[in-house]
Amino acid sequence: MKSDFLVIGSGIAGLSFAIHAAKYGTVTVLTKGQALESNTAWAQGGISAVLDESLRASGDNYDKHVADTLDAGAGLCNEEAVRTIVESGMDTIEDLIAAGVEFDHAHDDESQFALGKEGGHSKRRILHCKDTTGLEIAKALITTAEKHPNIQILEHHFAIDLLTTAKLGIATEDRAVGAYVLNEKTGKVKKFRSDRVLLCTGGSGKVYLYTTNPDSSTGDGLAMAWRAGATIANMEFAQFHPTCFYNPSATGAKARSFLVSEAVRGEGAILINEKGDDFTLKHDARGSLAPRDIVARAIDHEIKKTGAACVYLDVTHKPKGFMQERFPHIYNTLMSFGHDCEKDPIPVVPAAHYQCGGVATNVDGRTTIRGLYAVGEVACTGLHGANRLASNSLLEGNVVARRALVDILKTFPLDKKALTEIPIPDWETGNVTPPDEQVLISHNWDEIRRLMWDYVSIVRTDNRLNRAARRLRNLRKEVREFYWGNTVNSDILELRNLVATGMLIVDCATRRKESRGIHFTLDYPNRNEAYLSDTELRRF
Ligand code: FAD
Ligand code: SIN
Repeated sequence: MKSDFLVIGSGIAGLSFAIHAAKYGTVTVLTKGQALESNTAWAQGGISAVLDESLRASGDNYDKHVADTLDAGAGLCNEEAVRTIVESGMDTIEDLIAAGVEFDHAHDDESQFALGKEGGHSKRRILHCKDTTGLEIAKALITTAEKHPNIQILEHHFAIDLLTTAKLGIATEDRAVGAYVLNEKTGKVKKFRSDRVLLCTGGSGKVYLYTTNPDSSTGDGLAMAWRAGATIANMEFAQFHPTCFYNPSATGAKARSFLVSEAVRGEGAILINEKGDDFTLKHDARGSLAPRDIVARAIDHEIKKTGAACVYLDVTHKPKGFMQERFPHIYNTLMSFGHDCEKDPIPVVPAAHYQCGGVATNVDGRTTIRGLYAVGEVACTGLHGANRLASNSLLEGNVVARRALVDILKTFPLDKKALTEIPIPDWETGNVTPPDEQVLISHNWDEIRRLMWDYVSIVRTDNRLNRAARRLRNLRKEVREFYWGNTVNSDILELRNLVATGMLIVDCATRRKESRGIHFTLDYPNRNEAYLSDTELRRF
């Protein structure tokens, strides 16, 4: 199959790009599972943006949003990228409204947007649709994209590997030229050809045992880019969200991974321990609304010190009906688990949430491979540095998608010549037998996720990282055997990508001999300015 643009992933990044690119050529959007299965659709709190002069509330401005982002990023943000993205906030809001998103308006003034607050933000600047902002955005973008005659969304199409001229042995400068893709319904692998390839595959939360992410977040794009030879950066900065609902009896990913938005703390909820003390104040004067790395570490410390299974998010002091009105999705979901958050504090624990590092790009999404762009959570533009500021990622996904299109149209114009013919061999797989050892595959899945949680999560040491590296190397060997010994299916492919993601996190974490932002190690508990640079990994 051929198209002018090949987009892998149907979250905010992929769909924002597709909708704009369709004005210039044909767009194929591939997505594993269904189009609505994405981190985007699960986003709750909202999207940060400093609105234009007439709409700005409470004295906010670009400089303040930039300063908050840099502060959370602990010295590692690329300030130019931060400024570019922050200053495009209003364009993003207009773009999403044009796609059909209806952001909430203030109760007392319908001409103003309602603005929420989250950890690390000095001002109210989070636009939202109650507490299902991501779902509203995802639905609006999918509907808009589906209506466009130039866009084809192919669900259940799992991208396995990128096609590059180097991999195909074609002697030119290395270029991305497409991807091998598994049709999850038929089990057949097809070749998708394009001169403009976008990786928009989201993050990798599933590499950890506990995560707020949907099942699709298995680091596929990251691993594909790595195998293709792209530079990867800052993978040690895996962000943990402080408040995932603690639900030990839960079955199913949705129930185990249920997030209680930081926006709830923005409206006055506080974190307390079993005795009812606000322990976060001992760690930062901003208490429950300090940046995420600080709050997640404070909780981890409290749990380890007291031996408790969780801490609590207390919202019982708010007027009755407040949660139902402002956070109906959270309120109703907790009720469905038998918890009335207006009566009892919510049990919470930290869980893996966001990949701050990724495929290294500039602020236009360009990777180190020509014709390959990475946008959204899969990418590392320099916006987040060592710790992402809440609600900056939906913003980044839309801004960089629009910038990538401008860059692509300049660099790989469509009016020149149509797609060049490139001989692409059929997909080569190992021994074509159906997988008969599903139990081993599941076992490896669990083992990776558990060891990443035990050794490479909120608090690290050299010893734990070395142990993780050793076990991951063994697992990688076993996974290679599965991969080459069986007919491919999504489970094997995801397992292969999870191992690669785990190794990239451990390799980056091992190189950073300091504590900064999210990366905290007991062996080097302080910042060391000798490490004031990105951790970059290149395969060849
Ligand atoms: P995604 O939305 O994750 O989309 C990735 C897509 O790629 C999916 O469709 C997936 O199926 C597809 N895909 C993956 N691998 C393959 C493959 N091999 N082949 C084909 N398709 C593939 N951020 C905010 O800014 N504000 C918030 O309020 C907020 N709340 C959040 C709440 C939760 C519970 C979670 C999990 C995240 C939240 N985030 C929030 C983070 C934010 O949602 C994500 O960073 C953002 O949506 C990522 O968008 P994306 O387009 O890069 O990727
Ligand atoms: C949340 O609503 O707490 C998530 C916000 C984010 O991750 O940006």
